[in-house]
Amino acid sequence: MEYDVADLRLADKGLKRIEWAGQFMPVLAHIEARFSKERPLRGIRVSACLHVTTETANLLRALKAGGAQVALCASNPLSTQDDVAASLVKHLRVPVFARRGEDRRTYYKHIQSALEIRPHITMDDGADTISVLHGERTDLLPGVIAGTEETTTGVVRLRRMEEKGVLRYPIIAVNDADTKHLFDNRYGTGQSTLDGLIRATNVLLAGRQVVVSGYGWCGRGVATRAQGMGSHVIVTEVDPVRALEAVMDGFRVMPMGEAVRVGEVFITVTGNTQVLRREHLQRMRDGAILCNAGHFNVEIDLKGLRSLAKKRRTVREHVEEFTLRNGRRLHLLAEGRLVNLAAAEGHPASVMDMSFANQALSVQYAVQHAHRLANRVYPVPKAVDVQVARLKLTSMGVKIDSLTAEQQRYLRSWESGT
Ligand code: ADE
Repeated sequence: MEYDVADLRLADKGLKRIEWAGQFMPVLAHIEARFSKERPLRGIRVSACLHVTTETANLLRALKAGGAQVALCASNPLSTQDDVAASLVKHLRVPVFARRGEDRRTYYKHIQSALEIRPHITMDDGADTISVLHGERTDLLPGVIAGTEETTTGVVRLRRMEEKGVLRYPIIAVNDADTKHLFDNRYGTGQSTLDGLIRATNVLLAGRQVVVSGYGWCGRGVATRAQGMGSHVIVTEVDPVRALEAVMDGFRVMPMGEAVRVGEVFITVTGNTQVLRREHLQRMRDGAILCNAGHFNVEIDLKGLRSLAKKRRTVREHVEEFTLRNGRRLHLLAEGRLVNLAAAEGHPASVMDMSFANQALSVQYAVQHAHRLANRVYPVPKAVDVQVARLKLTSMGVKIDSLTAEQQRYLRSWESGT
């Protein structure tokens, strides 16, 4: 079996951490148990391009239990947990192509390697496999029946491909399931981003001026959690409705041009490019901390930052200090890449449980229905969403009410009023 991981000797440590995460993934465990009996993915080859974490390892175990053959590469050069990569190779016999800190060339070479199994299904976190398949590896497209996509960023891109008529196989937008984005994007990104910020810097959040750029589900999570830790949170937005929501959720909202004068910590979560630009960087306060929790490392103008600096040095792990020509120091975390995965461990397993339950069930759905799907972006079936929510509630010991027959009739009717 071919693979490329940093150090196989880390495998036993990785296995313990994978098992630890597994305790917090009861929904996925339930699916894995059913998959082992029913084997709905028998004969299916899956190329997965995901963050190589303990949670992802549990997902791959479930897919293998279902009968799938799986290959894995990283969806970000800095997010790979090398011990997990090693354990997947040694204990689960998964060909993994991922090394933490790999350069851009290796990153893309690894995507190509994970495609060597000639997938029926692709599983993406940021649509990089899909891009490669639609670019250099069109030869593999005839064998692909469907794909899944985990992120908002990826789904946005895939919708553009669909609109332009260039998408060559159907995609299930896992991100858009309610049991994914309402929890993973909000509570997962909320907690793990602050976790990364704190692990990298050990700053006190209480009383600090924190600027959160973007008030989508991820931005909301980050802003709310930072506020909960006592920070004074400022939100910047371009969408008037989201800005209004942020105002009514109790945040100060202002343009970035104003926020740079007050902010001490800046967190970009927009999914867009060039959010913190030269003109902003130049006017920031001495000691400002900059980090990104959006999928790609394009939100902070890294080139601009480098060009403004007269001196650069690493001051602690994951923290690079840039001394600008105006004498002020700016601190960039994790090279502007996803701070929650590069400086911490990504979202906690309890929330990835739901995201990856959606992934596993979407793969099963795709295998069963792909022949009837067009080359479009499809939502996760409502029944899957409801099933994931019910299983999660059960695992938490939470019971809920159900509609009476009279309530059901009422909801179906339109005649009765006051
Ligand atoms: N994306 C965010 N957090 C993650 C995690 N823990 N594992 C895999 N993908 C993630």
